[in-house]
Amino acid sequence: MTETNKISRRSMLTASAGLAATAISGTTIGKSMIVTPANPEGPFYPKHKQVDKDSDLTLIEGHTERAQGEVIKVTGQVLDDKGLPVEGALVDIWQANAHGRYHHEDDPATAPTDPNFQGWGMVKTDAEGRYAFTTIKPSAYMVDDKWSRPPHIHYKVSRRGYHEITTQMYFAGEALNEKDNLLNEVAENERDLLVVDFNEINGVLHGNFSVVLAKVS
Ligand SMILES: [Fe+2]
Repeated sequence: MTETNKISRRSMLTASAGLAATAISGTTIGKSMIVTPANPEGPFYPKHKQVDKDSDLTLIEGHTERAQGEVIKVTGQVLDDKGLPVEGALVDIWQANAHGRYHHEDDPATAPTDPNFQGWGMVKTDAEGRYAFTTIKPSAYMVDDKWSRPPHIHYKVSRRGYHEITTQMYFAGEALNEKDNLLNEVAENERDLLVVDFNEINGVLHGNFSVVLAKVS
């Protein structure tokens, strides 16, 4: 599914008075947008300070080797519920490595650690509300013998004047998505908003995940 389709599915048909319907990269200003569904933070939000939290999770400052795994690029826009870009929003992501293990002391997984994977990154959106990360595709991991989490990236998105959102981004086409207890907590008609299609561009998988924040009234 293209980003344009995804955004238009978010859009409801109530046009907001006073705003011209101007297209911005597939979105339509002036229409009410569905606020991105929340999804649990989970137990592995980083506990300890980390010097390098930049937008390239595949390379830790000072290291010569890159992270293991398939490199992906995740880009998107942070928008308000009228479809207007939110500049200066903090996009905070954390995820498991290519083996399905978090860089977190509470992760009971026995899968290998990857000392060259940053695991955590933060960026602020630009004037058009855009952000971009380079990272690796996380692996699935077992929660217990009946439940394996599909590959996912955790997100927290915040900006003064807006309600903070904690959620998770999923990869389209993963068989585990349909059985995932946390993705299934999202209302069925909004679940697709968290599931992103990745397409190869110049040998790298690209996905677009836009986040809609509600204004604090
Ligand atoms: Fe997780």
